[in-house]
Amino acid sequence: MSVKVHFLLEDLLVEAPAGTSLQRIADAAGADITFGCRTGSCGTCRVRIAEGRSHCSDPGAEERDFLAGLDAPPDQRLACQVAIHGDVAIEYLGL
Ligand code: FES
Repeated sequence: MSVKVHFLLEDLLVEAPAGTSLQRIADAAGADITFGCRTGSCGTCRVRIAEGRSHCSDPGAEERDFLAGLDAPPDQRLACQVAIHGDVAIEYLGL
């Protein structure tokens, strides 16, 4: 099964196999998301899941703690830490 990922800022729509990490999808698509550490500790890849939050993997404890430290609302995720299981729309925020 494939999923559709819409990168809103660039209006870029791409398809990828379900379960692919958002980092991999963004890299392959050339989406404008800055990845620093790629391990969930710098926050440069912060995005807002504008649509399809339920299609994202659940955040791990480290991602939850990091985003809580930024007072980020629940629709924000770290693109390097989330896998995509259904159609989503993504807005890049950065740190
Ligand atoms: S690239 Fe550093 S938190 Fe995602």
